Amino acid sequence: MKRRRTIYEGKAKILYEGPEPGTLIQYFKDDTTAFDAMKKATIEGKGVLNNRISEYLMTQLNAIGVPTHFVRRLNMREQLIKEVEIIPLEVVVRNVAAGSLSKRLGIEEGTPLPRSIIEYYYKSDKLHDPWVSEEHITAFGWASPQDLDDIVNLTIRINDFLSGLFLGVGIKLIDFKLEFGRLWENEFMRVVLADEISPDSCRLWDFQTNEKLDKDRFRRDLGGVAEAYSEVARRLGILPESINPSSGGPVLVK
Ligand code: TMP
Repeated sequence: MKRRRTIYEGKAKILYEGPEPGTLIQYFKDDTTAFDAMKKATIEGKGVLNNRISEYLMTQLNAIGVPTHFVRRLNMREQLIKEVEIIPLEVVVRNVAAGSLSKRLGIEEGTPLPRSIIEYYYKSDKLHDPWVSEEHITAFGWASPQDLDDIVNLTIRINDFLSGLFLGVGIKLIDFKLEFGRLWENEFMRVVLADEISPDSCRLWDFQTNEKLDKDRFRRDLGGVAEAYSEVARRLGILPESINPSSGGPVLVK
């Protein structure tokens, strides 16, 4: 048996070399971390759910013309993606105050923001992903002004689309994190959406109850992490049968 080459291993995913040049295989692990990997756990079934949820959201985004790295899902834990040059930024969009914004600026969690806010963090585990401005990004050459322009335009479209999509299934999209990459097509370069979109990278609250259906259940020791991710998949109409945590239907998140 031939062993495939690992290109990169992150905290929640592994990238393997793909079947042809310009492709990679993105493998979703059950591992989860928070606070710069100070807190770690394995959540059974999480990788399968995130693979499926991210596939669904990227496919919907592709359908409205948002370019992404996603090609197709290969199996329960893997998807084929285009190899891109990752732009070293975490692009966070916020619709409602929560998490680090609430802490930093003293705004109560759950307060709707006057308008959606985009923030940038420089991707560096060593530096703990520091908050940076457009000035830093262009001055240090992490992205060009044109790249940033593309990123902002795509991010606004993605936020509008996903906010509506989640609202339609009774979920408020509080905030989320995106990553982008550069894709070369002959001599042309395009900025495309990369990484994943899943309950690991979003804050998703039940519309009626504000119940958290995302990674904050792990970060804040609320329990029911896999059940919450399953509930998101169930509402999107994509719950993979084989990992339904109870045989008698979806488990209510308490
Ligand atoms: P924050 O409030 O902790 O800054 O997080 C904002 C959003 O970004 C939230 O939806 C979770 C997501 N996020 C990640 O995907 N990865 C990270 O490393 C962090 C800190 C946040």
